Amino acid sequence: MTNLDIFLWVILPYVSLTIFILGHIIRYNYDQFGWTAKSSQFLEQKRLRFGSTVFHWGIIFVFLGHVAGVLIPKQWFDAIGIHDDMYHFGAIWFGGIAGIAVVVGGFFLFLRRVSVKRVIKNSSVSDYVALIMLGIVVLVGFTNTAGYTATGGDFDYRVTIGPWMREILTFQPSEAMILAMAGAPIGFQLHVSLAFVLFAIWPFTRLVHVFSLPLKYLRRNYVVYRSNKPVIKNKDTHKKEIN
Ligand code: HEM
Repeated sequence: MTNLDIFLWVILPYVSLTIFILGHIIRYNYDQFGWTAKSSQFLEQKRLRFGSTVFHWGIIFVFLGHVAGVLIPKQWFDAIGIHDDMYHFGAIWFGGIAGIAVVVGGFFLFLRRVSVKRVIKNSSVSDYVALIMLGIVVLVGFTNTAGYTATGGDFDYRVTIGPWMREILTFQPSEAMILAMAGAPIGFQLHVSLAFVLFAIWPFTRLVHVFSLPLKYLRRNYVVYRSNKPVIKNKDTHKKEIN
């Protein structure tokens, strides 16, 4: 095991996760007004509607795919009868479609941010850094799925990256799994190590909005809007405004 292996597969993840957690806590406490997705919908709507919708639906499914492929042990799937063939069928088809959505949606968002003048004027350096890092991590990840796993590559991330990630998250990294990461194909190594660089810059960008999903909207009371013109109900219970 080399020093580089220890740096990449032990030190980098822990430094990055520490910055990720502390960075969010500090920013939440000291920058409440800056804690935002910085919506630019009022600056340009058409391209945003397509790019953002496709990207966000895609990323939700890619996230669920990571939970299934990296965080949930392979044995759990085996125990409920989802064996390798079935898992890989789902990972390639559902994962592939989700991956395409993220890449296409992300590409539209990127084009919008570099071509619409009003959006450019309202973008900060951190917006570009976040977008570029996100783009690289996504493109490398998708290249692994489409160019390696889907074309019959025999590296099984569910018995290498998965257990290594779980060992990191439970504070018990083992030599065996660090060596498994050191022997992973370069595309997978790049994807995972760049993801940790992304996590380290995350709290200082607009990506913090991921933790501010407006879930209260789903349970809050209706907001009642009333016309300022008097309204009568006709006998078919349809409402009619008096002009
Ligand atoms: C440490 C964290 C991460 C790990 C261990 C990880 C691991 C993986 C693995 C093993 C694959 C390959 C799946 C395959 O070959 O089918 C993959 C694909 C992918 N990853 Fe990650 N990843 C991480 C973080 C991220 C992040 C932060 C993003 C984006 C924000 C991301 C986006 C993607 C995408 C778009 C794909 C292609 C998947 C698809 O087509 O459905 N990953 N990742």
